[in-house]
Amino acid sequence: MGAAVAIAPLRNDPSYGQVLAREFTMVTAENAMKFGPIHPERARYAFTDADAIVDFAQANGMKIRGHALVWHQQVPSWLTDGGFSRDELLTILRDHIMTVAGRFSGKIAAWDVVNEAVEDPSRGGGLRRTVWSNTLGPQYLDMTFRWAREADPQARLFYNEYGGEGLGPKSDAVYALVRESVGRGVPVQGVGLQMHLNLDSPPNVQGIAANIQRLTALGLEVQITELDVRIREPITGDKLAAQARVYRDVAQACMAVQKCAAIILWGFTDRHSWIPGFFPGFGGGSIFDAAYQPKPAYLSLAQALGGR
Ligand code: G3I
Repeated sequence: MGAAVAIAPLRNDPSYGQVLAREFTMVTAENAMKFGPIHPERARYAFTDADAIVDFAQANGMKIRGHALVWHQQVPSWLTDGGFSRDELLTILRDHIMTVAGRFSGKIAAWDVVNEAVEDPSRGGGLRRTVWSNTLGPQYLDMTFRWAREADPQARLFYNEYGGEGLGPKSDAVYALVRESVGRGVPVQGVGLQMHLNLDSPPNVQGIAANIQRLTALGLEVQITELDVRIREPITGDKLAAQARVYRDVAQACMAVQKCAAIILWGFTDRHSWIPGFFPGFGGGSIFDAAYQPKPAYLSLAQALGGR
């Protein structure tokens, strides 16, 4: 059971780190290990924040998820505006992966090696058109996973995606992608189902269970990597109770499958959440409120996990 960690509250809000260490056994760096934050200039890496999160996790006996070696967002302008050739970008990407995954080699339980490479069906599906796919072609996925394995022989290597949690065209595309990768001997070991949920449209839990089942039947591990359940304001008791049921249902779907190995929340307190900034009019997505008090979702999640 884990949570994404933001460096600012970890540094500035003592309660944040206390509750995090007390309640969770795994952390994901919410932003600190992404391409832009960790590699702000071509010849400069910025490890201070990522190191602080790794140090915090190790000091508290917590496992660490690395997030994310390759993504189309939070890519620095020196790269997106660089006009690099295929060979130049291959060199840049390999150096990035060898440097970042190499630095934390042996400390990372799982890497989100590639994040969100599949285009939404509403935009035509297929491979998302990004600086990576446009310049390197679809082979960038295999190369990225192979370089990550070379840089860190121990970390479990994941493909991570949103919107493909239940059964549907996007999860079919993810399933096909990883099945073919595994068939080519690419070291993909798991699929991350992000699980960013909206209480207005609760998930089809049977579909999630079926998708987890078919992915694990490929021999892959599944992790719920970014679980949150945003609520349209005003936040009421009924909505909090409904949110608790969604957290419970998702946890039970994962717990039912042996190779669904982890559940990570995308933030754990409403005090520090990405949701209000990205979804105006929504909030309350976490299991602790802004005063670090457990919400109904905390209790339902604990019960689903077999706790108190
Ligand atoms: O750190 C800078 C700060 O120096 C600057 O003053 C400020 C204003 O420009 O921006 C700060 O960076 C922001 C960063 O969060 C840290 O707060 C970025 O602008 C902002 O874009 C970034 O948002 C993150 C978002 O990914 C980026 O797309 C969210 O925190 C983060 O929760 C979100 O997480 C993603 C996962 O990585 C992948 N799955 C989807 C999920 C939600 O989008």
